[in-house]
Amino acid sequence: MLNIIKHPLALHVVTRLRDKTTKPAEFRVLCHHLSVLLALEATRDLEMREMSVNTPLEVCAGHELAKPLVVAPILRAGLGMVEPIVSLFPDVSIGCIGLERDHATARARSYYCKLPPLAGTRVLVVDPMLATGGSAVQAIDVVKQSGGTEICMLNIVAAPEGVAAVEKAHPDVPVYTGALDRGLNGMKYILPGLGDFGDRLYGT
Ligand code: PRP
Ligand code: URA
Repeated sequence: MLNIIKHPLALHVVTRLRDKTTKPAEFRVLCHHLSVLLALEATRDLEMREMSVNTPLEVCAGHELAKPLVVAPILRAGLGMVEPIVSLFPDVSIGCIGLERDHATARARSYYCKLPPLAGTRVLVVDPMLATGGSAVQAIDVVKQSGGTEICMLNIVAAPEGVAAVEKAHPDVPVYTGALDRGLNGMKYILPGLGDFGDRLYGT
């Protein structure tokens, strides 16, 4: 299922991210804001457990998260979406999935993977760009092989091809995105897109 963030702030942020004159300093702040909006949407249905809390005056009913939360960034660009999620959920565990697209074939190659225990958790797989969907499908494969069952995919910008690939391979995984773009060019870059997210985030 595809969920496009409709908040006006998301429209503004995506526009500023697309602008080729936006420098890394502003780009990082924009990435932070949109990641917060995405994380809030993707956690709207989190299971809660009832508990009690002592206020200065009396005891009253409260709530806490029922399941641990895990954020799994696809390196390297996905790292830019981790800190905003940690700022919302400080107890989150972090699992890193290192994938890099080959420039000629656009196929993702795995170079690193370290995940915390995933059974009984909600896993947020984060990667700013969903282009062909090759990286996302591979990352979700790995998360499932490692015991993850409740998984969401969070992207800043998605192409229809990438959304279709995730829906085909992992129909149980909802996709949350800041924008659904037109499609891919011959080099498998998203159009209109924003260019290479990792390069713009890190200034490479
Ligand atoms: C980019 C992006 C995704 C991937 C998307 O990463 O961050 O991981 O491409 O493309 P896909 O949907 O066609 O797989 P890249 O491989 O350029 O590596 P980087 O994060 O190190 O820049
Ligand atoms: N990765 C990016 O960073 N940008 C794209 O448009 C496609 C893949």
